Amino acid sequence: MTSTLITNIGTLVTNDPSHPGLLGLVEDAAVVLDGSVVTWTGPAADAPAADQRFDAAGRALLPGFVDSHAHLVFAGDRTAEFNARMSGQAYTAGGIRTTVAATRAATDAELDANVGRFVAEALRQGTTTVECKSGYGLTVADEARALRIAGAHTPETTYLGAHVVAPEFADDPAGYVDLVTGEMLDACAPHARWVDVFCERGAFDGDQARAVLTAGMERGLIPRVHANQLTHGPGVQLAVELGAASADHCTHLTDADVAALADSTTVATLLPGAEFSTRAPYPDARRLLDAGATVALSTDCNPGSSFTSSMAFCIAVAVREMGMTPDEAVHAATAGGARALRRTDVGRIAPGARADLLLLDAPSPVHLAYRPGVPLTAAVWRAGVREV
Ligand code: NIG
Ligand code: FE
Repeated sequence: MTSTLITNIGTLVTNDPSHPGLLGLVEDAAVVLDGSVVTWTGPAADAPAADQRFDAAGRALLPGFVDSHAHLVFAGDRTAEFNARMSGQAYTAGGIRTTVAATRAATDAELDANVGRFVAEALRQGTTTVECKSGYGLTVADEARALRIAGAHTPETTYLGAHVVAPEFADDPAGYVDLVTGEMLDACAPHARWVDVFCERGAFDGDQARAVLTAGMERGLIPRVHANQLTHGPGVQLAVELGAASADHCTHLTDADVAALADSTTVATLLPGAEFSTRAPYPDARRLLDAGATVALSTDCNPGSSFTSSMAFCIAVAVREMGMTPDEAVHAATAGGARALRRTDVGRIAPGARADLLLLDAPSPVHLAYRPGVPLTAAVWRAGVREV
């Protein structure tokens, strides 16, 4: 195995609590990678020798972004729907069915190419871990193939057969929940790590969501929930009650919802791309952080409500619109995402962690918010391999 010394790092974000501040910063730092893992971090002056050397030229190095919420297995786009929304039309869950029709009509090769394209697009912007949901197939065969395809690109696969009621079951939602918790789950569970449900008016109510999540848990899947996106609802409380890894969106929260999250191990995953692209009010990250909840930031990349793969964009919006400091937003996009995926090998730079690294074309991680819209990726390593 070849070791690499990255030296002359102006600011190193470790997210390691043994270093100062929320981001565990080390100034004038160096990092050593060996194979796929980090083996050493510390002041450049103390760095050990390695087989090869990379000069970071005083720029900032941080853990690769962990995007813990994305919907990448789909075909088509929804430009017309976006255009209509920007002329005043409201977002509804119903648009999902447009993408379902296009996805069902696509070949395996087309869907695989689409996922590959989005994973590569995200990687170029510093995302080294991405979660990927099914949910645009809504038949036994189409959901299973979505997860098979997703699994070729990431281990973080999520069964979202309960995205909306499939059009064939429009008059029989209970029958669709039976399918999702029965035959469809049988076909999907072998290809998924997580189970998710869109708990929302127009999608699935609290009882239906509970049935979907508990059936998945009985098959060894870990729950995460689309909760409280468009309206107040039971999603967050259900997520906490079932010990879900994450409650995602968290846009409309009561004080009791905030307290429940703060008191739990369930991460509040905020998805500002969705509010941006649906012209909706942003979630209040400050309220969650002040209450003591763990917050993650993710893209929600999907063709309907949030067609961005840019974690930097989400950081900038979270800082400007959601009450987060730049450090909190960077932490949420790295360590927070790792927590939401229950991963200890990513989202931090420390000996033993996977060598997932983002070198910024900037001296400080604050520039991710300070220079919105500017491509700042200078280099990316994933599992020790230089990818960008
Ligand atoms: O997370 N909320 C449900 N699912 C997606 C939207 C999917 C779509 O509109 O196609 C979301 O925002
Ligand atoms: Fe989503």
